[in-house]
Amino acid sequence: MNAAQDLGWSVMPLGPALGARVDGLDLTTPLQDEEGDALDALLLEYLVLALPGQYVEPDQQVSLGRRFGEPLIHPYLEPIDGHPEILRVVKEADERATFGGEFWHADITFMNPPSSVSLLQALELPPLGGDTLFANQYTAFETLSTGMQEMLAPLEAIHLYPGKEETDPAAVAVHPVVRTHAGSGRRALFVNAAFTTRFVGMTEAESRSLLEFLFAHQTRNEFVTRVGWEPGQLTLWDNRAVLHYAMNDYDGHRRALQRVTTMERIR
Ligand code: SIN
Repeated sequence: MNAAQDLGWSVMPLGPALGARVDGLDLTTPLQDEEGDALDALLLEYLVLALPGQYVEPDQQVSLGRRFGEPLIHPYLEPIDGHPEILRVVKEADERATFGGEFWHADITFMNPPSSVSLLQALELPPLGGDTLFANQYTAFETLSTGMQEMLAPLEAIHLYPGKEETDPAAVAVHPVVRTHAGSGRRALFVNAAFTTRFVGMTEAESRSLLEFLFAHQTRNEFVTRVGWEPGQLTLWDNRAVLHYAMNDYDGHRRALQRVTTMERIR
């Protein structure tokens, strides 16, 4: 028996690439040590955890987030009232664009330290559509040729908040192109189409073709799992090892969620 089974949780993998649905845990009461350890272990193994029926209160979402890092107060986006660490992820019925735009990304990579984990809870969902896709960046790195892995390993890249200038220190960060996960020790590809603009020491034009290759490679179908939503579902993902993409396929319906993103603690 593993720890999750000992606790009576049921863990159902969502696909071969990553992800699991976990039933039987209750995040509305403080986690006991063994529950926290089991949750950490599942996130390390599956990278994305869909936890239906949680309906956590904002304070509970923030305090659960603290387990994974420091909850971020976003420098540019409006939080919900009374909770500066919680972002509204909303597309109204009459809107056409989704919250983050139609880009594969990890959250908040334009900051340093970058994010560790995001916790997104669904409040209101369209009758159909609005799933979130996740892509495994360990596999993305490990399936590159050794020649490409060796070339990428020493590189760093610029991550810039869209519409901002590199001269704005709040909007830009430099990160290794290959990020070693502090928990697993595994290496993941760490660039993304939303924020990565160029390699350090190269121009955008010089960086473009290699970045475009990596953006296409890192979201190949076989690295991806599609995660659906239920009201009250909390989904946790590890931004150190996955990218995500919110489907925009429910025009005419409201979709509302709330997100806490935590920043990696530097040890
Ligand atoms: C996000 O980019 O954090 C939002 C994901 C989603 O809306 O599914």
